[in-house]
Amino acid sequence: MAITAPTTRPMNPRFSSGPCAKPPTFDLAKLSDAPLGRSHRAAPGKAKLLAAIETTRDVLGIPADYQIAIVPASDTGAYEMAMWNLLGERHVEMLAWESFGSGWVTDALKQLKIDATEKTAPYGEIVDLAGVNFDNDVCFTYNGTTSGVRVPASFEIPADRAGLTLCDATSAAFAMDLPWDRLDATTFSWQKALGGEAAHGMLILSPRAVERLETYKPAWPLPKIFRLTKGGKLIEGIFKGETINTPSMMCVEDYLFALEWAKSVGGLNGMIARADANTAAINAFVESHDWINFLAVDPATRSNTSVCLKFTDERIADGAAFAKAVAKRLSDEDVALDIGAYRDAPAGLRIWCGATVETSDIEALLPWLDYAFNAELNA
Ligand SMILES: Cc1ncc(COP(=O)(O)O)c(C=O)c1O
Repeated sequence: MAITAPTTRPMNPRFSSGPCAKPPTFDLAKLSDAPLGRSHRAAPGKAKLLAAIETTRDVLGIPADYQIAIVPASDTGAYEMAMWNLLGERHVEMLAWESFGSGWVTDALKQLKIDATEKTAPYGEIVDLAGVNFDNDVCFTYNGTTSGVRVPASFEIPADRAGLTLCDATSAAFAMDLPWDRLDATTFSWQKALGGEAAHGMLILSPRAVERLETYKPAWPLPKIFRLTKGGKLIEGIFKGETINTPSMMCVEDYLFALEWAKSVGGLNGMIARADANTAAINAFVESHDWINFLAVDPATRSNTSVCLKFTDERIADGAAFAKAVAKRLSDEDVALDIGAYRDAPAGLRIWCGATVETSDIEALLPWLDYAFNAELNA
């Protein structure tokens, strides 16, 4: 059988799940207003940091009484800051269905050593969400980036919960409708759905989370980099852009650019629609090819950002080697970069479908997937 390569390549071969493709209109020259070589505490820097916070609120529809901070160490820094500050006051349910969620379980059980129940599901599946007791604190990942499994839209956190919810939303923010009134501590990084830079994290706290911060003192020491209160009171400046330590004003400028781009494509709804269109294109491909399927078993849990796929053809002898070879072939052809499954995840491909990826590029990639599959099978 003659296997011919498609003639059209994606305009942008960047389908990595983090750092993700930059907005299509990105150009380094657009960051020329960054106040470089100046103190981030001088007026121009402070104004940019506050704008980053308030534009985040605006685009994501975060309630006015929620506190938003820019914190160090990307999503990991933001999420661990939430865990270290808030947990230990009551029993915790740790929910995980892929590697990042599992990392937070390890934090709770082995580092903080708190009173916690671990609820985990294998890659492709999700835990029994109906069985969660929200009178406990609950830690979970809104979208499992390495399995492509998200909480389904039907997932409902009770309004009258006694515990707090700590949500790692790094690959969900700007692509899914987050229920802010049910989320007490939410985190994400700029490097995902906005195509921003890494190293800075966002921490978003509900009034109930702030109340916990002001009434509960963890039993363990907190390094300066994690400290959100002083003398039992919230350090309010942190939530106005007076960051704990020095941020990169270049990254802040890049984030502001990405937020403006998000607004230009219709804000949150526009971003969600773009991610949904990308995922729909992959869905149509999967439905018309019997050798590939989603890793996520239940369609209601399928991510519209980190779409994880597995090869199901019985002729494949070594699944891991085959998936690697397909990803390499596509990378060598400059058709798709960084689409191999995450190192701890089952063998397969992972294609980022967030809004910064153009649907026309996903559509141009899919015939190449068909080509690479057949070429590899006949190699
Ligand atoms: C769900 C999830 N949590 C945490 C992280 C870690 O993010 P960062 O490297 O920005 O700290 C990632 C990165 O891919 C992720 O997907």
